[in-house]
Amino acid sequence: MDVTQSAQYPLDPFPQYERMRATAPVFQDDQSGSWHVFRYDDVQRVLSEHATFSSRMGGDNPSGTGQLFASSLITTDPPRHRQLRSLVTQAFTPKAVDALAPRIAGLTDELMAEIAGKGSADLIRDLAYPLPVIVISELMGIPSEDRERFKHWSDVIVSQTRILPASETQDSTTSEMVEYFLALIDQRRSRPGTDLISSLLAAEIDGQKLTVPELLGFCALLLVAGNETTTNLIGNAVLCLAESPGTLERLLSEPALVPQALEEVLRFRSPVQSMYRVAVADTVVGDQLIPAGAPIVAWIGSANRDGQQFQRAAEFDVDRNPNRHLAFGHGIHFCLGAPLARLEARIALEALLSRLPGLSVASGAQLERMDSSIVYGLKELPVTWQP
Ligand code: HEM
Repeated sequence: MDVTQSAQYPLDPFPQYERMRATAPVFQDDQSGSWHVFRYDDVQRVLSEHATFSSRMGGDNPSGTGQLFASSLITTDPPRHRQLRSLVTQAFTPKAVDALAPRIAGLTDELMAEIAGKGSADLIRDLAYPLPVIVISELMGIPSEDRERFKHWSDVIVSQTRILPASETQDSTTSEMVEYFLALIDQRRSRPGTDLISSLLAAEIDGQKLTVPELLGFCALLLVAGNETTTNLIGNAVLCLAESPGTLERLLSEPALVPQALEEVLRFRSPVQSMYRVAVADTVVGDQLIPAGAPIVAWIGSANRDGQQFQRAAEFDVDRNPNRHLAFGHGIHFCLGAPLARLEARIALEALLSRLPGLSVASGAQLERMDSSIVYGLKELPVTWQP
């Protein structure tokens, strides 16, 4: 396998993170003015001290796709954040999510049946991408013929960096998404079902319905943000196993180890490498004074490789336990979809191991990272096996 190093988005950004942790763990980028935080303790603090580090994105005038997410959970601070989150926690508790396991296994079976006899596939296109999209679409009552559009939308969204001005493509993508979601919301208003959008439409906080931007924020966040990341957890898992001799065989003989191995994938190749915050007041982080109003990038991908927190941090070790990685964030914004992502990835990985004997990355495959500094995953993952 050939790991192509694109200069802008390297598949191996980890040596650079290591240098930053050692030499400039809290660093201001002169060009953008943003501050970058690389050490585990600092990243954990920036993610979780919400009174000091706000999640409000783009200030009062967010641009491009920022508008779509401006009233979503991920960009809201308490007290609104707590109210909004309470509306959806029920749908994503481990118990509620476990009830989806038979359906996820059925879908995985269908997707695997399409490729099992072939001997080769692009695992991103054929399994890792469609699985989470179908699952969340079903939860939200999205017609199956509309699913293809999310792929394009999420690709455009993840290729943007929030603090840069939006490009024309992003603006037109935002308009398309807004139009689509507004039509969907209208449709559910007139014909409610048992799906998540219908229950959000019925929900009230202190006697008030959600605003349209809040409804749009939920749609955008659930339908786009959670999918690409789960796709990449599955893809990154296959990459980690392929790179680590013997682990594939080990998991095949000890399937109970799969959940722990996935936690290590989350640490080692985190699908979300960075998250943003804004300093609410002048604040000292490490030995630097970050001024009020400054944007901060918390490098989760670096925190998860910090030798101060993890022994042999640069080693992929399926036996690692405890594993206090920050791949799903920390504190009040901890990923709502974590139980769902873990379940989907476990079912997908078990199916890959048991149904594709001799699975390996296709020889000579040029593995390239997606065009994003935030989301970490492969554009394509060509694999082969003995059919
Ligand atoms: C929040 C990562 C899958 C929905 C987050 C955050 C991270 C993250 C790091 C914290 C953001 C912050 O602190 O600002 C991931 C990863 C995933 C994944 C690595 C897959 C491996 C999903 C899925 C869904 C989802 C499947 C939903 C179906 C959300 C939501 C939030 C969130 C709604 C916002 C929570 C809040 O602000 O209270 N995710 N996510 N995620 N995630 Fe995920």
